[in-house]
Amino acid sequence: MVDSATAQRLRAAAARILAQNRRTGHADWNDRDYAYVVPSPSSYPFQWFWDSCFHAIALSHLQPEWARQELVTLLHEAQSDGFIPHQILWEKDRYPEAAARQSEAFGDRYTSSSIQPPVLATALERVYRATGDDAFLARCLPTTIAFYDWLARVRDPDGDGLIAIIQPDESGVDASPKFDPLMRFPKDNRELVRWIQWLYGRYAPLRFNDRAILALDLFQVEEVLTNVCYILGMQALGRLCRDTARAAAWQQRAAMVQAALVAKCYDDRAGAFFDLAGNDERPLRTRTITSLAPLALPTLDRAIVDRLLGHLSDPRTFALPFPVPSVPATDPTFMPGNAHGFIWRGPSWVNTNWLIGEGLRVHGADDRRQILVTQTCAMIERAGFREYYQPYTGEGFGSQDHSWSTLVVDMIDPAGP
Ligand code: GLC
Repeated sequence: MVDSATAQRLRAAAARILAQNRRTGHADWNDRDYAYVVPSPSSYPFQWFWDSCFHAIALSHLQPEWARQELVTLLHEAQSDGFIPHQILWEKDRYPEAAARQSEAFGDRYTSSSIQPPVLATALERVYRATGDDAFLARCLPTTIAFYDWLARVRDPDGDGLIAIIQPDESGVDASPKFDPLMRFPKDNRELVRWIQWLYGRYAPLRFNDRAILALDLFQVEEVLTNVCYILGMQALGRLCRDTARAAAWQQRAAMVQAALVAKCYDDRAGAFFDLAGNDERPLRTRTITSLAPLALPTLDRAIVDRLLGHLSDPRTFALPFPVPSVPATDPTFMPGNAHGFIWRGPSWVNTNWLIGEGLRVHGADDRRQILVTQTCAMIERAGFREYYQPYTGEGFGSQDHSWSTLVVDMIDPAGP
C-alpha cells in the first residue's frame, strides 16, 4: 500500500504539473478555442492524441472540468470521415520548429496524418463517470464512435478484425526494437528517422489514402498494443451506449477482435503476444512490453493471464527494481539508460505501468498491483515526472515534467470499471 502522505504528495505534484502544462487560447487557423495539456513544454509542445486521453484520465481525479475540456479540444479536429490526427499544433507559430523535427508527414492545417493507440473511448468513459455529465457524453460520443468506425473501415484491410498501423510512431512505442526487422535495423535515432523519411517519400503520392498506403505493404503492422486499446475502447463504448442493441453490438465487435488477437498474435510457446507484419502476417518475435499488454483485457482467458503474470514476476526479464521495462533485460536490444530519442528500448514508462496495473486489477492480482504502484511512486518521488525511467536505478530521462506520468494518481486510486 502506498502510504497516505506519499499519495497526497504525488497527487498535489501531479495537479501542479498538469496546471503548469495546460495551454488555453484561440487558434486562428481553425477558429476554435482550445484547452489541453501539452505532453511536455520543452520536447512536446502540442496536443498528442493518446497523451490527451491519459491526461483526461488523470484530470478526472484532480480537475474534472479540465478533463472534459481536454477531450472536447481533441475532438475538435476529428475529420468528417471519422479520422482523428495524433498531433494537433494549436500554436501555429511553433509549426516550423515541429515540421523540421518530426519525421512523419503532417496532414492538413497543422495536424498530423497519423493515428495513435485508440485510448479515446476509455478516457471518455472515465471522464463521464467522474462528472456524470450527460450533455458532455452526448456531445462527445458520436465523434468517438465515428473514430472507432473509421478504424474498422480503413485500418482493417484484410477484415480479420485487427487494425493495422502504417508507421512505427502510430504504435505509441515509436522506436521499439520489435519493428527493427521492418526498418533495416536502425542503429540509432538518426537512422530510424531517415528510414521514416524514406517511408513517407514512398507514401507521399498516396497521402490521406490509408487503404492504398496499406496496400503498398511497406510498413503494415497489426500491432498488439494498438489492438488492446481498440478492444478496451469498444468495451467502453458498449457500456456508454444507452441503446441495448448498440451496446451489445460494441461488445460483440470487441469480442471478435479479441478472439482474432488471441488466435493470431498469441504464441503459446513464448506465453506472449506478437505483432503481425505485412500481408502475409509474419510475427515480429521480439518480446517487449506490448507482448504483455493484453493482460489489461478483463475478458482474457485465465491460462493466458497466468502466462503473462509469469513474465511480470521473472527477475531476469521484466521484474526489475523499477519495472516494467519496455524491453526485457535479457533481450540483446535492451538499452536501459538515456535513449537520446531512441526510445522504448528498455526504460520503464508510467503509461505502460498504468496499463499493466489495470490488468493486475481486473484479474484480481492485487498484491502484485500494490507492488507495481509502490515502485512507480518510488521512481516518481526519486526523479520527478519524467518521460521514462532507468529500470535498475529509477533515474529519470527524456522530457521533464512529462504530463502522462501523472497517471500515477489513477494507479494509487483506480477508478476504472
Ligand atoms: C513519444 C512517445 C509517444 C508520445 C509522445 C508525446 O514520442 O513515444 O507515444 O505520444 O512522446 O508524449
